[in-house]
Amino acid sequence: METPASTSTPSTTKFYSRAEVATHNDSKSTWLIIHNSIYDVTSFLNEHPGGEEVLLEQAGKDGTEPFEDVGHSSDAKQMVEPYKVGELLEEERDNSYDKKKNNNWASSGDSDEPSGSWSSWLIPVALGILATVIYRYFIAAR
Ligand code: HEM
Repeated sequence: METPASTSTPSTTKFYSRAEVATHNDSKSTWLIIHNSIYDVTSFLNEHPGGEEVLLEQAGKDGTEPFEDVGHSSDAKQMVEPYKVGELLEEERDNSYDKKKNNNWASSGDSDEPSGSWSSWLIPVALGILATVIYRYFIAAR
């Protein structure tokens, strides 16, 4: 039976192992793993603004870390989509990079930040008031 709502995206995601990806490691067939998705960048090699060398270095491997470390623009991050050929097998996924990064910026647990900056201005202000009071009543009053 056909599924009516899936005209553009076929629901059949292909899953590959890291070993399978590793066989696509040259300029004839260049696959990359980025964030557990697999991209066939063979046709993108000579279009990559960063050059084909860096892509070939990562060919057949997990390029998540170098891809992110370069600081690719959000445009670049969207450009990967058309090259996607599948995903890593569930048991071979590696989310350690995302976790590490989440601690740095995407965390929702930064609720102690505001209280940190709150106390950082409150203490100098309190000291200023105290200094004014001491000056007024003990020094200037003489
Ligand atoms: C499908 C995967 C990739 C796509 C679509 C892509 C796309 C792009 C784009 C659009 C740029 C231009 C600058 C920007 O917009 O950020 C760029 C630059 C660059 N990319 Fe990639 N890239 C991919 C994978 C990689 C990987 C795996 C590496 C890893 C080593 C890499 C290294 C670089 C470098 C070194 C630059 C040059 C940065 C500069 O000159 O400022 N890219 N890439």
